[in-house]
Amino acid sequence: STNQIPRDEGLDLSLSLLSEGYQFIPNRVRRFNSDIFQTRLMGQKVICISGKEAGEVFYDPERFQRKGAAPNRIRESLFGEAGVQGLDGSAHQHRKDLFMSLMTPQSLSVLNDLTIEQWEMAIDKWEKMDKVILFEEAELIMCQVACHFAGVPLWAKELTRRTKDFSAMIDAFGAAGPRHWQGRLARNRSERWIEYVITKFRTGKMSADENTALYKIAWHEDLNGKLLSVKTAAVELLNILRPIVAIGRYITFGALALHQHPETHGKLQPDADNYVQMFVQEVRRFYPFGPFLGARVRRNFTWKEHNFKKGTLVLLDIYGTNHSPKLWENPDSFWPERFHDWKGSPFDFIPQGGGDYHKGHRCAGEWITIEAMKTSLEYLTKHMEYEVPEQNLSYSMVRMPSIPKSRFVIKNVRRK
Ligand code: HEM
Repeated sequence: STNQIPRDEGLDLSLSLLSEGYQFIPNRVRRFNSDIFQTRLMGQKVICISGKEAGEVFYDPERFQRKGAAPNRIRESLFGEAGVQGLDGSAHQHRKDLFMSLMTPQSLSVLNDLTIEQWEMAIDKWEKMDKVILFEEAELIMCQVACHFAGVPLWAKELTRRTKDFSAMIDAFGAAGPRHWQGRLARNRSERWIEYVITKFRTGKMSADENTALYKIAWHEDLNGKLLSVKTAAVELLNILRPIVAIGRYITFGALALHQHPETHGKLQPDADNYVQMFVQEVRRFYPFGPFLGARVRRNFTWKEHNFKKGTLVLLDIYGTNHSPKLWENPDSFWPERFHDWKGSPFDFIPQGGGDYHKGHRCAGEWITIEAMKTSLEYLTKHMEYEVPEQNLSYSMVRMPSIPKSRFVIKNVRRK
């Protein structure tokens, strides 16, 4: 026998999603006292699942597929068309291998050197500035890191435009209205730019090191031995560039954590027990970024005595899983030391998705993210001093993606 899934009745809860944001799924998980519930969103039946066991089933490729899962709005702004996020089976595996081939220890060390170089230049610049908006500056830093890392030329005069476009694509994911349109415009402009770069490169009018994303993506052959179309190659190169810029958000939340938990400062300085690693993990667990992920049921199956019908859209709760009281002690306190005892499950700590990097859709850039954040925190604590003036540092739990309202302003930056 199978059980009825708790239902949130109501014609369509899309408006509740917009008004509850990151707490939409967790609120109902609490209310129904259930890791699974059914509702209607965007005109269709949706099943929401939360927690570690939910992650395990969500990442089973026999049961779920990504084809047809991302709404148009997300493809128009954040993802683009025909990229790795929407592929399944051997086509996904083959494309994912391309991404993972860019994540070798050697590339991580290149990325680290580039991050150090940009922070060094940034401090020189900030020492001369009256007021520094850290979020904007962190995105500028990461945009330069991203382009150098990927082998994409970036002229000084286009840095601001390109950074703003990356930022707008990220900023659009939970938006309707003007913020969504900004994201679409930014995507169209960025795709045109990167298509031009790929064409130049393929026709020998531009060169790149063979370990760069530009080189590897431009010459990548699909399972039939064909090069990607210029458009798809651009979408995939943007899938490297854009999320590196997104690390600027976590750098900003890292600075906020340092500010709101001054006791962590003293622990980061000597960095005993690799405290910086735990701190970075806690920033990624604690602060809101990705709210949930979507996939469609590939074939009928039963989980925990509940029926899942082929084609149903299922959302996995990222924010709620990272804050689940069943998985985390005092989940709503910022406490890096908790990662001392973390067992390293691929399904309970899922800020960048869960499961396996190679076989599934888990974020290809998680190691890059951790490395860039560690380096950035070292700069914020060991290589510079600054003041945090009075400002509105609160961040919304409804706006997706979230960021401190003031964008984190610092003053009187001095090198240490
Ligand atoms: C996928 C989050 C940084 C490249 C994902 C997913 C999430 C995520 C939630 C979806 C996982 C899934 O569908 O199961 C983040 C966050 C980041 C970040 C919060 C922090 C800024 C990066 C970086 C890169 C990257 C730095 C590359 C340099 C990708 C790619 C995918 C992905 C290529 C698609 C993987 C696939 O579909 O197989 N990321 N990511 N991300 N991320 Fe990230």
